[in-house]
Amino acid sequence: MDILPSIIASDFSSLNDEIKSIEECNLKFIHLDVMDGHFVNNLTFGPLIVCAIRKMTNLILDTHLMISNPSKYLLKFYECSDIVDVHIETGKEAFECIEIAKRNNFKIGIVVNPETHPKYIFPVLEDVEQVIIMTVNPGFAGQEMIESVLWKIEFLHNFRTKNNLPFKITIDGGVNWNNIYKLKNLGADRVVMGKSFFSLSIDERKNYTLKFKTSPQ
Ligand code: DX5
Ligand code: ZN
Repeated sequence: MDILPSIIASDFSSLNDEIKSIEECNLKFIHLDVMDGHFVNNLTFGPLIVCAIRKMTNLILDTHLMISNPSKYLLKFYECSDIVDVHIETGKEAFECIEIAKRNNFKIGIVVNPETHPKYIFPVLEDVEQVIIMTVNPGFAGQEMIESVLWKIEFLHNFRTKNNLPFKITIDGGVNWNNIYKLKNLGADRVVMGKSFFSLSIDERKNYTLKFKTSPQ
């Protein structure tokens, strides 16, 4: 299972060192939370910062758009991201983004909020690289996981097997070094980790990551 550190929980005054620490842990991805103060109640950063991060690392950049009208900015984010994720709650916009990604052969993820039933993403599951199951209401790092939505992992896992589809299942929100094992056993392929990763010292990040990777649980 892959751990995707979420940069919004990092110390932006030493962003380069924070990113290097992800590489030193031998992880493959960075998760970038883009928020517009409209789709969610918080503001973070836009393509300028994503493109600056692109210059700092060869890690896979996974850009999670929590913005209204994502189709308007999609190509801008693809200039420097490897995967861009859009929320099904943006409705027609999400379908438009998936069409754009398909036409350009870009990797796209679809995201479902805690209160959204995963049946709404059935029509796009053939076209997405990953499904992100939100286990907090999007907007802020450091929230507690809403465990009552974890049934969606098995639900999507079964759908994937039955239809022989390749999409990955990613969990975003409140993942920590205790509940990560449960997520793995339920069938998650990737987990986003904000506070529980970046609140550690760099040595602890390496130790915890290694311990998880080598643990039989
Ligand atoms: C929440 C974001 C998450 C968040 C995860 O709106 O989408 O990616 O940064 O942070 P933690 O792991 O601290 O919940
Ligand atoms: Zn996210």
